[in-house]
Amino acid sequence: MKADVVVGIQWGDEGKGRVVDALAGRYDIVARFGGGDNAGHTIVVRERKLALRIVPSGVLQERPELFIGGGTVVSLEGFIKEIEMLAGIGVDVRRIKVSDRAHIVFPYHVADDIVGEGLRGAAALGTTGRGIGPAYIDKTARSGITFADLRDGTFADRVRANLAAHRARFAATVSAVDTETTIADTTALLPRVLPHVVDGVEYLHGALESGKRLLIEGAQGSLLDVGYGTYPYVTSSHTIAGGACIGLGIGPTEIGTVAGVAKAYCTRVGGGPFPSELHDDVGNRLRERGAEFGTVTGRPRRCGWFDAVAARYAARINGLTSAVITKLDILSGFERIGVVTGYRVDGAPATFGAIGDARLEVEVRWFEGWDADLSGCRKMAQLPRTAAAYVAYLEEALGVPIDAVSVGPEREALVVA
Ligand code: IMP
Repeated sequence: MKADVVVGIQWGDEGKGRVVDALAGRYDIVARFGGGDNAGHTIVVRERKLALRIVPSGVLQERPELFIGGGTVVSLEGFIKEIEMLAGIGVDVRRIKVSDRAHIVFPYHVADDIVGEGLRGAAALGTTGRGIGPAYIDKTARSGITFADLRDGTFADRVRANLAAHRARFAATVSAVDTETTIADTTALLPRVLPHVVDGVEYLHGALESGKRLLIEGAQGSLLDVGYGTYPYVTSSHTIAGGACIGLGIGPTEIGTVAGVAKAYCTRVGGGPFPSELHDDVGNRLRERGAEFGTVTGRPRRCGWFDAVAARYAARINGLTSAVITKLDILSGFERIGVVTGYRVDGAPATFGAIGDARLEVEVRWFEGWDADLSGCRKMAQLPRTAAAYVAYLEEALGVPIDAVSVGPEREALVVA
């Protein structure tokens, strides 16, 4: 059985959560492979709106187990809070497993993130302030602490050594935390954390070998990938489909399909280039209509038209086999809808790689809008002619079939091909 992957192909917040929720009932395991609680996946089922940060979005389906893979970085307090919230609404949280290879985000990572942003001044990246970058720095510096260290009791010595090293290097960062408090607080959390910890490689490969179906859920978006996104305005993990292999410890030969999720327009939170951004009333209207405020930080999201150059780039770096377009309903009522179809630098055509160039200009193609309320549409044939033409263009731009289009936040507000 091959594993299927769902990734976001813009700057995050594409609506992966609802896509994974819609698919999860057909799988035995839904796995997250990267990031931490910088992600905010929102799912709306009937009157209930659920914001998930670290637990995979399949959690509202009864069948799948939820696996937090070795490539993630996890705050213990955030993890427990989320588990308690889920238990409180009747979810069987014994289905939630964490790889022993996943790294812990400690309060000193959060302090470091905030200090680091402050030191960057005007060039701040606009991180979520969740300690993600510093936790990945510790991981690659080989001084990170994993769930395996919690299990075998070596974490306290590692925290002491790590904070002593940090203290020597970053006086301002560690003045915010106390070593023994960090260890005592962590020890108090262990009884609630350790029952979920599994040998991540045995767990996943055992499941695949016994024929279980695995759905892999990306976090953030492809354009925030640390290697292929808009560096340095990126997150600190590999968010593209290839990251699933590293983050879960599976080979590329285990992957079947790769579905890319994109909004019908574009948003971005934090700093960094955004060529299709709208600084005018149209951008404000997109933000208001689309409720484009961060799930994690509450920050207003920057809004703009769909960027076909970026979408095509994302389709390539992920090896997409299909796509899902979300929030098409938000575009209802716009007289005309723009799509960025080309980049130019000094008048010459440019590739996505030029995105950080201050001279970059965009070419925009205009599409006729529609007024109809799309929320009742369930089949492509029910979409107004102009909306269908817009979706057909997005499909052409992406170069892969569009499987579904969302037209409302509810689970069933999905138009299928
Ligand atoms: P970090 O991941 O907190 O280090 O933040 C780095 C950049 O990624 C910032 O611009 C964040 O706003 C952005 N980012 C991180 N996670 C998400 C997400 O889930 N959705 C959208 N943007 C995100």
